[in-house]
Amino acid sequence: MPDDANELLSPIWPSDAARDADGTLVVGGVSATALAERFGTPLYVFDEDEVRAHARRALAAFDGAASRHGTSARVYYAGKAFLSTEVVRWVADEGLAVDVCSGGELAVALAAGIDPARIGFHGNNKSSAELDRAVAVGVGSIVIDSLVEIERLAAVVQRRGARQTVMIRVNSGVHAETHDFLATAHEDQKFGFTLQDAPEIAARIRATPGLTLVGLHCHIGSQIFGTAGFRESAARLVEMHAALGGLTVLNLGGGFGIAYTIADDPTPIDDLAVGIVDAVARECADRGISIPRLAFEPGRAIVGRAGVTLYEVGTTKSVGLQDGATRLYVSVDGGMSDNARPALYGAQYSARIASRVSPAPPTLVRVVGKHCESGDIVVDHEYLPGDVAPGDLLAVPATGAYCFSLASGYNYVPRPAVVAVRAGEARVIVRAETIDDLLARDAGAVVDPNERIDMSVSSDRSESR
Ligand SMILES: Cc1ncc(COP(=O)(O)O)c(C=O)c1O
Repeated sequence: MPDDANELLSPIWPSDAARDADGTLVVGGVSATALAERFGTPLYVFDEDEVRAHARRALAAFDGAASRHGTSARVYYAGKAFLSTEVVRWVADEGLAVDVCSGGELAVALAAGIDPARIGFHGNNKSSAELDRAVAVGVGSIVIDSLVEIERLAAVVQRRGARQTVMIRVNSGVHAETHDFLATAHEDQKFGFTLQDAPEIAARIRATPGLTLVGLHCHIGSQIFGTAGFRESAARLVEMHAALGGLTVLNLGGGFGIAYTIADDPTPIDDLAVGIVDAVARECADRGISIPRLAFEPGRAIVGRAGVTLYEVGTTKSVGLQDGATRLYVSVDGGMSDNARPALYGAQYSARIASRVSPAPPTLVRVVGKHCESGDIVVDHEYLPGDVAPGDLLAVPATGAYCFSLASGYNYVPRPAVVAVRAGEARVIVRAETIDDLLARDAGAVVDPNERIDMSVSSDRSESR
């Protein structure tokens, strides 16, 4: 039990998060109550400076570690963590490239105006249309994931008379210490080729007119805290890189973990970078080969800590447990449709009352959403001031990654707006979904075109809609 259930514990919150004189949470210089008043709740709040700082730090960490060994590292921001044109501009501004894994993500990256040569395109089932678009706009590299894809891409480049740089996605066979659904480089899963198959795939690509094979790509999983899995994977990849000969790039993917609660203790990205790059350098030295140019793809580590979701408490309910204890359920106006991670992965989060501080003794609560699923949990267990009540604003930190991007339309709860905050200013970067948006897709809906429906708690706060 914390001494103070109002405290904003680093490193879960954005670095500039604080309480103002009234006790209200302030992020990016903007108070949570002002944000809720103006834009409504639920609301995804992104601290622009925090995103930029993590992008700069990641680039400095990986490229700095690489330059100590006489090579360089490119850092791709993994757009699947959170993609909007604005975030693409922030990270591109800070020197990052961007990785996309669908035609939709590619469209958003392009709509941001980033140089297509700075886009990497992944995915285990890219369609001919997606590949055609990628080749047409001139994406920097396409990561090949299957035999079928070699044929699809060959047909595209032939038809267009184009030449495309490609990489091969391989499974290093390393099972990163993370949730099973987040680990992607053990054998029994859908991504890439086994290391044993890599030579044959490389030969096929090299024999395909219009394709230029530059290197191997691997991603061992997500939310990984230590370097051991990355180092082992790097060793196996360098061995194959050396065996194939003639390759110039090695992409070791992303997966660098962040703290969601104070129980999490991820290795700082600077230390991870040094550990991984040193391992690559050692393996190359052992084989007498020069170190390739390196690439990394952090997503969560760039945006995770920059996001805070604001909710309004709607109900509280004390529920008796079998052991005689009670649990206080705190229901908020969003839930698994804006943050699927607790239901998907059993992900843990923390929370604070954002609209005030309270001297009330801490009480163990479970924060739940408004969806028709008992697994609709936002924060499984947290201590909040015991007087938490309807009308309070609740803030859930570390929601910058894989919340907006995994959002669903479950129960027709409209998806929240995304607001960027910086230096005391707030602006909408993705508007909220509206009930009208939802009805617009229903071919049989009978609606009055003059009636605007808004049933959110913030019907009087329309700026984000
Ligand atoms: C190929 C690839 N690269 C990068 C990432 C980003 O991972 P993270 O956000 O954990 O850094 C992922 C996540 O699934 C991925 O599949």
